[in-house]
Amino acid sequence: MLKEMQEEILRLKKEKNVCILAHCYQTHDILEIADYIGDSFGLAQKAAQTDCEKVIMCGVRFMAETVKILSPKKRIYLPRPEAGCPMAEQLDVDMLSQLKEMYKDYSVVAYINTTAELKTLCDVCVTSSSAIKIIKRMDADKILFIPDCNLGDYITKQIPEKTFKLINGGCPTHAKISKKEVEKAKAAHPNALLLMHPECRPEVVAMADFVGSTTEIMSYAGQNNAKEFIIGTENSIVQHLGIQYPEKMFYALSKDCVCHNMKITTIADVLHCLNGTDGEEILLDDSIIKDAKICIDEMLRLGK
Ligand code: 13P
Ligand code: SF4
Repeated sequence: MLKEMQEEILRLKKEKNVCILAHCYQTHDILEIADYIGDSFGLAQKAAQTDCEKVIMCGVRFMAETVKILSPKKRIYLPRPEAGCPMAEQLDVDMLSQLKEMYKDYSVVAYINTTAELKTLCDVCVTSSSAIKIIKRMDADKILFIPDCNLGDYITKQIPEKTFKLINGGCPTHAKISKKEVEKAKAAHPNALLLMHPECRPEVVAMADFVGSTTEIMSYAGQNNAKEFIIGTENSIVQHLGIQYPEKMFYALSKDCVCHNMKITTIADVLHCLNGTDGEEILLDDSIIKDAKICIDEMLRLGK
């Protein structure tokens, strides 16, 4: 049944000239039918390049908004309208305006996990894999980084020559991972390397053998000669790596490291979205697209 559904999706997307993008946190059956799989930066770049008339973004709302901002003439769809990112919605325009008032001489750098509206107030956008390179290349020395203080802390440590202001915010899925859980996982798998996402808390990131974005973690695990890895990011990566490298062992750091927003989209939702019976078309005001595009273009320019 699953195979038939996937074949129907592949047939329909070809017939209708639809491009399907999937974030790595999607389930394996969705990755199998996607034209492109990636982390936030890879998806943003792909969104800028695709020439399909329609794009289905399997991920969360801010990702679909990013695709729309970069491809305003295309019709962009989110298969499950309720798939949001709690971190992206932590700050609103009023709160950020107040922060900008308080830190007038700071450049505002936004993690890509922010709403399109919020991006209109930011100077540069970054992803977990591009942040260090981009912030280093910025002319500005004073950075107000929003909204993830864990990723912010990680960046701050890599760029001591600049001054940072961080605010309290972050990813509830990654921030949940505790030092105790890391100690337990390391004791259970003493030969495994610990790979962590920088959205995790500083004290657990400090225990890692490697820190990186989702695709960076996946390629590190593939290329490294070690045979065992503890995966400190959303648990779908444990499954994807296990399928990709069956000769290696991958262990979840915490059984609670599950992003329910990422998991709400099913393969059936993708089919319904292609058929036009479900899903939401992402519509943004022209002025929001224009203003939000500035910080994303700046990310793409500095990240080249
Ligand atoms: P990356 O895909 O950039 O690693 O970000 C992880 C994440 O939490 C996306 O929402
Ligand atoms: Fe947002 Fe965290 Fe889920 Fe990514 S994993 S979509 S940052 S809540």
